[in-house]
Amino acid sequence: MTKYVGVLTAGGDSPGLNAALRAIGRSAADVYGMQVIGFLDGFRGLMQNRTLRLEGAALSGILTLGGTILGTGRDKPHRMPVGGAELDMTDVLIDTYNQHRLDVLVCLGGGGTQKSAHRLMKEGLNIITLPKTIDNDVAETDVSFGFDTALGIATEAIDRLHSTAHSHHRIIVVEIMGHNAGWLALGAGIAGGADVILIPEIPYDVELIAEAILRRSQMGKRFSIVAVSEGARSCDEIDGSKDDPKGAQRAGTDDEDDMGELLIGRGSLLLARRLEELTGLESRLTILGHLQRGGTPSAADRLLATRLGTACADLIHEGTYGVMVAARGEGTKAVPLSKVAGRRKTVALDHPWIQGARAVGTCLGD
Ligand code: F6P
Repeated sequence: MTKYVGVLTAGGDSPGLNAALRAIGRSAADVYGMQVIGFLDGFRGLMQNRTLRLEGAALSGILTLGGTILGTGRDKPHRMPVGGAELDMTDVLIDTYNQHRLDVLVCLGGGGTQKSAHRLMKEGLNIITLPKTIDNDVAETDVSFGFDTALGIATEAIDRLHSTAHSHHRIIVVEIMGHNAGWLALGAGIAGGADVILIPEIPYDVELIAEAILRRSQMGKRFSIVAVSEGARSCDEIDGSKDDPKGAQRAGTDDEDDMGELLIGRGSLLLARRLEELTGLESRLTILGHLQRGGTPSAADRLLATRLGTACADLIHEGTYGVMVAARGEGTKAVPLSKVAGRRKTVALDHPWIQGARAVGTCLGD
């Protein structure tokens, strides 16, 4: 019996999404004779029944393309903005699923998408998810696709900032994405040799950072690169947020679909200004922003997306649903969605990357 497979990409786009779509589409159709249909713009396209057949020409030449040929969005089925209101459209999405007689809906996304997919699973749909995000914060997988590409971009940015910071004897604060997880800033900071790395998992003390920068100056190194994760916060900010609803909101955003609540750039700008005051060194701020998500995926992300996508087709063939296809070592593992949804993988304080950064003399702000 031919199986009917629906696929959508949701949340922020991530390099490797098209490689994953190609892998799912080709292996599902060519190996197992399944029919694969894509829904456009995430859960909204499923609600509105806007589709694209994922076969033949649609899958050609997309391995190297950034973004997603399906389009994406941060809408949630149970809180869908419709005509100025936020409505629970779950039943409408289920109608579309039934209309296409789908055997399974495959959702490619980060933390917020895993939660939405889990909700649909609890409503009785057959669901499989793939972990996609540059933030690398999806639980239960070694890594998510998009991370390696973004890591390369952020590392190159830090490399490039070195020569200009050095020439002008400046502090350059570079803000790196990652939501409330420090993987990207920590990884790029270590790989790019940042002098200070600040991540959400370690509240920072700006005076300790200034001292570290001044120690460098005394050794004749009159510039410093500070890699700061967009979710990093100072100890003062954390204390202040107890009485400040905005600060608390920023601290509490746990969902990749609630990005609007993160105050991008604000903390980093204050940090750059404060470091200038405390050290007397001129400071500048660079926000890498969406540059980190754009463009062609790295070879590692293409490999990972292909590995997860083809494993997904195998699981559909077996009839294994309600799982996320996780990367484990060189292979994959089907992890129950209930173990993934609502959890976030952050950097453990004893992670080898943290130990390595400290061992080479990097200031982590504590
Ligand atoms: O989750 C991926 C991510 O790139 C985060 O690192 C960042 O905070 C957020 O998305 C930005 O979201 P948007 O594209 O909606 O501005």
